[in-house]
Order: sequence, then C-alpha cells, then structure tokens
Amino acid sequence: MNLGLGCVRRPICWPFGSVLDSRHCVFALTLLTLLMQVVVEANSWWSLAMNPLLIPEAYIIGAQPLCSQLVGLSQGQKKLCQLYQDHMQYIGEGAKTGIRECQYQFRHRRWNCSTVDNSSVFGRVMQIGSRETAFTYAISAAGVVNAVSRACREGELSSCGCSRAARPKDLPRDWLWGGCGDNLNYGYRFSREFVDAREREKSFPKGSHENARLLMNLHNNEAGRRIVSDLAHVSCKCHGVSGSCSLKTCWLQLADFRKVGDALKEKYDSAVAMKLNSRGKLVQMHSRFNPPTNHDLVYIEQSPDYCLKNQSTGSLGTVGRLCNKTSEGMDGCELMCCGRGYDQYKAQIVERCHCKFHWCCYVKCKRCTKIVDQFVCK
Ligand SMILES: *[C@@H]1O[C@H](CO)[C@@H](O)[C@H](O)[C@H]1NC(C)=O
Ligand SMILES: *[C@@H]1O[C@H](CO)[C@@H](O)[C@H](O)[C@H]1NC(C)=O
Ligand SMILES: *[C@@H]1O[C@H](CO)[C@@H](O)[C@H](O)[C@H]1NC(C)=O
Ligand SMILES: *[C@@H]1O[C@H](CO)[C@@H](O)[C@H](O)[C@H]1NC(C)=O
Repeated sequence: MNLGLGCVRRPICWPFGSVLDSRHCVFALTLLTLLMQVVVEANSWWSLAMNPLLIPEAYIIGAQPLCSQLVGLSQGQKKLCQLYQDHMQYIGEGAKTGIRECQYQFRHRRWNCSTVDNSSVFGRVMQIGSRETAFTYAISAAGVVNAVSRACREGELSSCGCSRAARPKDLPRDWLWGGCGDNLNYGYRFSREFVDAREREKSFPKGSHENARLLMNLHNNEAGRRIVSDLAHVSCKCHGVSGSCSLKTCWLQLADFRKVGDALKEKYDSAVAMKLNSRGKLVQMHSRFNPPTNHDLVYIEQSPDYCLKNQSTGSLGTVGRLCNKTSEGMDGCELMCCGRGYDQYKAQIVERCHCKFHWCCYVKCKRCTKIVDQFVCK
C-alpha cells in the first residue's frame, strides 16, 4: 500500500502550550507518557481510544519516541504510526466511536461492553472467542474505517482527500457526480492495514486454538469494515433556480454510525459458530446452515453467562444493574439478575412537563420531579 507520508505540524508543546522550549518539552512529554502508561496499561490498539495524548500537535517533538511509547501497538502498528502520525488521532476516535456504539447496543444486556477493567480496554472477557468478542472486534474496525474516511474528506490527513469513487452507473445523467465524498476506499484500506497488522504479525501452529482465534479476529474485523462499506450511499444536494432542483450534485456518503451498530447487532444475533477442520481452516460447526459470508460474524467459543463477577474470565457480573420488572427480555429482572432476585428503590427523576407553545416560536416547559420505582439486581 502506498499512502504517502504524514505531514509536519506546527510545533506546540501540547498540553503545556508554548511555555516550554523543545528540549524541556520532550522531557515533559516523556514524563507524561510514562505516567499515562501506568494508568492506561493495555494490550491492544483499542487503548488509543483512551489515550489523551492523541492530539496531533503532540507528535512533532520527539515524533519517533511517541509512537513507540503509545501503549498497545504491535510492531507493525508502531511502524504505521511513524509513517502516518496524523492518522493516529482518528484511529483513536474510531475506536472510541466503536466502543460507545457497543455500549449503546448492549445497554440492556448482561454483558454491557463495559471497559472498567483497566488491565486492557475491555478486560479479560476478550480472551474468550465468544460472540461478544466478535462484535467488539467488528465494531472497532468499523469505527476506524468510519473515522479515517471522514478525516480524508475533511482534509485532515496529508495522504488522502475527497473520495475518488467512480460515478455510479445508475445515477441520472444530468446529475453531477463530484461533491467531496467520504473516502471509503482509503479508509477501508488503511484500517485493514492498521487494525489487522497485529493479527498478521503473529504465527501459530496450524490447528491450534490460538490460530483459530487469529482467524476469527481477522474475519470479524473484515465483517465490520464490509458493513460500513455496504451502508455507504449516494447523497445529493439540489441546486437550480429558486429551489427547483433542476440540478443535483451527488457524492459518496457514509451512513450514520448508529446504522452500522444496528446492522452489526443483527449480525451478532445471527453469528455463526465455527471450529477448525483437519486442514486448519475455520468451518462452521453445524454444516446444515449456509457458510458465513465475509459480512457475517463468527465465533469459536460459547459465551459465559456473565451473571457473576469472575476474575479469571473478566466477567463483571450483574449485581447492582438496573432491570425492568415488567419486561420478559434480557433487560427484565428475571434474566438480568440470573434468578437472584432484585431490590426495589424509590428514585427521584427530573423531567420536562407542562410544556406550552409560545407565539412565536418557542416551547416553554417546567421541570417536574417524579418518584419512580427502580429495580436493581441482587
Ligand atoms: C485498575 O486501576 C486501579 C487504579 O488506577 C487499580 O487500583 C486496579 O487494581 C486496576 N485494576 C486492574 C484489574 O488492573
Ligand atoms: C470463573 O470462571 C471459570 C471459567 O468459566 C470457572 O472455572 C470458575 O469456577 C469461575 N470462578 C468463580 C469464582 O466463579
Ligand atoms: C455495565 O455493567 C457494569 C457491571 O455489570 C456496571 O458497573 C456499569 O455501570 C454498566 N454500565 C452501564 C453503561 O450501564
Ligand atoms: C419495561 O418493559 C416494558 C415491556 O417491555 C416496557 O413497556 C417499559 O417501557 C419498560 N420500562 C422501562 C422503564 O424501560
């Protein structure tokens, strides 16, 4: 892949402003980075989502050291970091978007994509090759495609710009193709290079559990990227005399990331159980179903029940989680609390009420407090 070199930015000693000269800046940054490592000890590029040093200006001074000091990067990822320093911030943002979407999609589930375990971003739960792990890899990879493609369009990266995707064949002839679109092509390629680097560097004996896991991760990373690509669409804007819309300009537009989350959640629900065959390939466990496509999620291990806190699996358990007394779904107290029962509390919530329309044109509301019942797992 030839993506060109990163650009050089203004020297500012972030976050210390311009008060430090460059020698002291290197020293201060190094110290800060070392401190960060103690706090954000992590073993994956996902930790970029947590790393407050991801401000482009931080890279100028002592550029090389910073890439090698970012925690969680594999050797290949460190090399890419050095070549494409201006991309790192967007990889971090992409990971963060992915994690936030994961937490939204799983907010009513026993496993809620929580990142409280700081020994790695998601904790030891990711050591199990489960559906949840599959989802997490896919949504993080998707987040990176999303963030890098957008950053290209917005002119934030030195090695890419607006999308140069070919004009769709079915676009009406008199519509213009050429607004500045999200550079999905670049975002896809860069994220494949960066996110998969960690897996591609490893090598395990064929047929080993580790190799099965590696294949699983690569498959799910790709599924995440494909979903972003599938959901991208053509977006158009009208021009013409007094809004007649006689002229349209169209470009490639990524879908809202919520749509990506929804689509991946469906893939999670229909994820395919896999096992290694005698030639060391991943094949589906139950051969009566269709084999997974590269848009599907795959997993190789059953999920734990996530009911109780368990140090060795990294499960946080559901003690103290809110549940819904009347729901029969996963958010219902029966399932959420794993049959342990729940405590009932009165809680005070504030909401908008007695809203009135005022001429012209605003709505004024009062704030009312309400006492509601809340149910919390034992
Ligand atoms: C997480 O960090 C806190 C303090 O920052 C520490 O007390 C705790 O032991 C850490 N947890 C793990 C699992 O490393
Ligand atoms: C934690 O999970 C492991 C693996 O499922 C299990 O063997 C162990 O008994 C569990 N420990 C506790 C304290 O529940
Ligand atoms: C997720 O679950 C953990 C424990 O099960 C809880 O501490 C945390 O607050 C939950 N997060 C959200 C966003 O509900
Ligand atoms: C609880 O679940 C019921 C049934 O699914 C639903 O109608 C209700 O809105 C839920 N309540 C809350 C507070 O989410």
